[in-house]
Amino acid sequence: MNNIITLGQFIIEKQAQFPYAKGELSRLLRDIGIAAKIVNREVNKAGLMDILGSAGSTNIQGESQQKLDVYANTQFISALTSGGECCIVASEENEDIIRIDSAVSKSARYIVAIDPLDGSSNIDVNVPVGTIFSIYRRISKESLPGLPDVLQKGTEQVAAGYIIYGSSTMLVYTTGHGVNGFTLDPSIGEFCLSHPQMKIPETGTIYSINEGNYVHFPEGVKQYIKYCQVEDVKSCRPYSSRYIGSMVADLHRNLIKGGIFIYPNTAAAPSGKLRLVYECNPLAFVVEQAGGRATNGFSRILDLEVNQLHQRSPIFIGSNHMVMKAEAFMAGNK
Ligand code: AHG
Ligand code: MN
Ligand code: MN
Ligand code: MN
Repeated sequence: MNNIITLGQFIIEKQAQFPYAKGELSRLLRDIGIAAKIVNREVNKAGLMDILGSAGSTNIQGESQQKLDVYANTQFISALTSGGECCIVASEENEDIIRIDSAVSKSARYIVAIDPLDGSSNIDVNVPVGTIFSIYRRISKESLPGLPDVLQKGTEQVAAGYIIYGSSTMLVYTTGHGVNGFTLDPSIGEFCLSHPQMKIPETGTIYSINEGNYVHFPEGVKQYIKYCQVEDVKSCRPYSSRYIGSMVADLHRNLIKGGIFIYPNTAAAPSGKLRLVYECNPLAFVVEQAGGRATNGFSRILDLEVNQLHQRSPIFIGSNHMVMKAEAFMAGNK
């Protein structure tokens, strides 16, 4: 028997058992894996289906929703609804939280926050896109779960991860016991363990930022970019600039090769563009568990107070040394 370890086997057998879960979290991760396979199927043939382009609607973010945004959102919500293991879904694509009212889900103990399709601007040009998910335990005691169950600090996450629909499709997640990556084998329809115990290099030579916004960046970010570009053989500079426009893809590359991803506040996005609940917090949990660092330039992302569902935050995330260097420039030290 070859030594394939599927996501299902890993979750059940390899995962450190949780004192508080009797398999619910395992089934919840299974439900996410199922939806990811369904979305992957559509992403892979997007060019052949009527699933490219705009859905003709605008989401709460004021973004024009792409057909695949809507499709992915529907698939994840329906997989989570039929799985019965979560009582609320909070999605980038929905203004309010979605309470799952089925008899089973009403007493479910988990909340899922999700960016169903990250990097939507890349769908029509065949550049990798992703899905980001974050899982919390329900904290409310009232009969109905509500927003307070979602607006929890990132440190309270019990699991988080992402799917990247790229040259291969991977699911990468953590439950606070390290980070493991699974690659989808389409021939058997299973996510198979391919990247056990992922660790981000302490430093790297890749910086990811949309330099088109340079003139609007905070002074510390401008100086850090200049630092990345100055020749210094000893510290392997100038670094390489790599920016895909899908945070999941930029982050996944940096997780494997080392690097820093920055989305600071800009004129157009005074609090930053990326959303704390379903982009920054889950990816910060993964990167910290892989030995990296994630802040808003000053404070740890996972410690930030969460006051609104679609709250945004600047984010500096990746290899420790690189994020700390960028923070030094933000603090006015060279
Ligand atoms: P989403 O597609 O879920 O709205 O997220 C897009 C985000 C993120 O994936 C990416 O890093 C960033 O937007 C790119 O923003 P800019 O085009 O402003 O650089
Ligand atoms: Mn969007
Ligand atoms: Mn996104
Ligand atoms: Mn999205």
